[in-house]
Amino acid sequence: MNIILLGPPGAGKGTQAQRLFDRHGLRQLSTGDMLRAAVKAETPVGLQAKAVMAAGELVSDAIVSALIGDELDALGPGQGAIFDGYPRTAPQADALDAILAERGLRLDHVIELDVDEDALVERITGRFTCAACGKGYHDRFEQPVVAGTCDKCGGHDFKRRPDDNELTVRTRMAEYRAKTAPILPIYEARGIVSHIDGMAPIDTVTAAIEAIIAAG
Ligand code: AP5
Repeated sequence: MNIILLGPPGAGKGTQAQRLFDRHGLRQLSTGDMLRAAVKAETPVGLQAKAVMAAGELVSDAIVSALIGDELDALGPGQGAIFDGYPRTAPQADALDAILAERGLRLDHVIELDVDEDALVERITGRFTCAACGKGYHDRFEQPVVAGTCDKCGGHDFKRRPDDNELTVRTRMAEYRAKTAPILPIYEARGIVSHIDGMAPIDTVTAAIEAIIAAG
């Protein structure tokens, strides 16, 4: 099974992708995570992407599509994927079609998380993660049980993404409206799009995704 999770920054794509991995073993292919790893490792791709990401703009289509192709090739036989943050433009949607076709794969679902953008700014600017294990937290919605200590691994270092400030988040949202939302009709024409209320509690969103998968 191969699923695209679509939605503006902070809609909950990464949160739900982790749950799909836990429940179904579907591999999360997040172009944002791949690019952040490249920036950290200071690879040629990372050096190109760093300033673009810091501004909230989109990295070139060719770079992200190459990353996705490589990650798909690393999957185990028959393992499905969740595309998180990809495709984000019409050329990326075309590239994904070609990448899947070359490998004899197909898309089963495109799930869009519908959200209120102003509420998302609070979600994003308040989030932070454990530097050791990556567990996500939020200043208002999900603090560690013991302040300063990760619930999952006991780590004491936490980090925030450099692009999680209000100005950059607004740019990322504008990019979504201008370049990503317009690709939905491509998939609607194929009858594989479902819309979910992404403002519902996290468990409710998960249940709605599970219902879509169960319906086939
Ligand atoms: P990327 O890393 O993909 O960021 P994004 O799309 O902006 O999405 P986020 O990771 O910010 O949000 P999310 O939807 O995963 O939400 P999350 O689950 O964390 O991209 C970053 C940058 O990389 C881009 O700006 C671009 O420069 C570049 N890039 C990446 N892919 C690219 C591509 N294909 N082409 C070109 N450039 C690309 O949730 C957010 C918070 O809300 C968390 O704290 C969570 O706990 C909480 N939360 C989640 N769901 C709920 C809920 N239902 N109720 C309450 N709280 C919730």
